[in-house]
Amino acid sequence: MGKDAWWKNKVAYQIYPRSFRDSNGDGIGDLNGITEKLDYLQSLGVDLVWLSPVYRSPMDDGGYDISDYEDINPMFGSMKDMDRLIAEAKKRGIRLLMDLVVNHCSDEHPWFQKALREPNSEEAGYFWFVRSGDAPPNNWASMFGGSAWEPVGDGRWYMHLFSKKQPDLNWENPKLRRKIYEMIRFWLDKGLGGFRIDAITHIKKMPGLPSGPAERPGGLVGCHAYTRCIDGIGEFLTELRKETFDRYECITVAEAAGVPPHQLKDYVGEDGYFSTMFDFSYAEPYNYGRGWHTAKGPGEWDFRAWRDSIYLSQTETQKIGRGAVFLENHDYPRACQKFVPAKDHSPAVQKMLGQLFFYLYGIPFIYQGQELGLDNPHFQSIDQMDDISTKNHYRIAMEDGLSPEEALPLICRYSRDNARTPFPWDNTEYGGFCASGTKPWLWAEPADPKANVLQESSEPDSVLNFYKEMIAIRKSETYGPTVVDGFFKPILKRYDKLIAYTRTGDRNLAVVCSLSDRSRFVRLPFLPKKVIQRSCAGESFRGQTLKLLPYQSLLMEF
Ligand code: GLC
Ligand code: CA
Repeated sequence: MGKDAWWKNKVAYQIYPRSFRDSNGDGIGDLNGITEKLDYLQSLGVDLVWLSPVYRSPMDDGGYDISDYEDINPMFGSMKDMDRLIAEAKKRGIRLLMDLVVNHCSDEHPWFQKALREPNSEEAGYFWFVRSGDAPPNNWASMFGGSAWEPVGDGRWYMHLFSKKQPDLNWENPKLRRKIYEMIRFWLDKGLGGFRIDAITHIKKMPGLPSGPAERPGGLVGCHAYTRCIDGIGEFLTELRKETFDRYECITVAEAAGVPPHQLKDYVGEDGYFSTMFDFSYAEPYNYGRGWHTAKGPGEWDFRAWRDSIYLSQTETQKIGRGAVFLENHDYPRACQKFVPAKDHSPAVQKMLGQLFFYLYGIPFIYQGQELGLDNPHFQSIDQMDDISTKNHYRIAMEDGLSPEEALPLICRYSRDNARTPFPWDNTEYGGFCASGTKPWLWAEPADPKANVLQESSEPDSVLNFYKEMIAIRKSETYGPTVVDGFFKPILKRYDKLIAYTRTGDRNLAVVCSLSDRSRFVRLPFLPKKVIQRSCAGESFRGQTLKLLPYQSLLMEF
């Protein structure tokens, strides 16, 4: 579906509403705050804006636990505010995507509440209730720690692949599916641009719900093998598309972890379930295993394996459709923490990472603050943190015998809260996030107080202006068609700590990014005509030989 779709040349931006802009001074970002800042988004040049969930929710998992799909969480505003945001965005040529969270809902959703009260109700059939006495029905682990089953006191247990406040919805039930489709049409009728679709590869569970070989403390087994991309999921996803998205001009972006390369065509091919999808195959090169405390840091994991997984994802996807490419989102620390040793972090490195991802084949998604080159903020204690997953990893570290003092810095490296602190607008207190100087709902000292919109707008060399330039290049008549449609091919594979590729079409473009902390020579497979954009100045050429500075990257024409 993605090859020649209306959205193929667009640029998308992800907002974490709770932390973008607080318009009424209660310390919490809100919809009116986003509306207030639409001009900023327009000035960046973005066309699509994805909002992390703003539905009614007890916020156990940052709103990914929905208690009313057709209402707005009062902390973010009202339905009127939402309608106004959609309309004001449209005026600026921006279409809004909401987050569609339908693998699970909240335990506070009226469906689940009724299911608890009345085991024989229709609503009880919307969930995975199993009677199994004193022990859980199987040994699956929840992704947020502990068993994936919770007892309700009457012999029934319910499944929750995420937190116990996020009961999984039972997609085998046609009545539940119909409810979901009605809800989706309710939103699309409002003129939404589409959805980012949460955890969608988990909606089919392995028939019979079999236990697996114990591999974790308590005899638990990771749930992915039994609940991700399970045979038969395609029937649900096809029906979902036909009943909803197919009837509108919208874009659907699946959070589709675990899709094997040979199934990509089912997801984003010509007749795929979705317009496009995030591929996570190269998102976690540190492969943390048991917990974030044991995860390797940048420079310690296998660079070539990571790079090859980017190349493989690109070459496989371009054969059949168009992927959604990203460097950051609300589930990860800031990208430089993942990919570059802390001693080397700088605005120029942020630009290099920007180029690395932005010119890949696919539709780019920029996460709020990425365009400012934000680094992880400095959390000083676990009490400052909010994220349910962070608390789980902190607990696992203690179980493994670490002291709180040892555990904190280790889990802080990968905490999801790193990307969830308030967006910095200016140099005033709390980065001007709140309308008054109120303390924000989540706060940690920023790594660099000068990395904010006001400051960076006035500096021609800022990361912000670099991102604006990348977006402008993608939209330019000269290079745009090649950046959007050009053929992706990896080059210079024999060099370590180098990511390099060509994009060829109307023009011939090449991106060369060094992730080495030393200057180096590389022999290009072409004769460069010109450098279009550079992360920092100082490269030199002799014929096809290029001398790069540490962490330097270039976009070239040849
Ligand atoms: C997705 C979201 C994440 C959330 C999880 C459960 O991975 O991106 O933030 O915790 O789904 O809904
Ligand atoms: Ca507010």
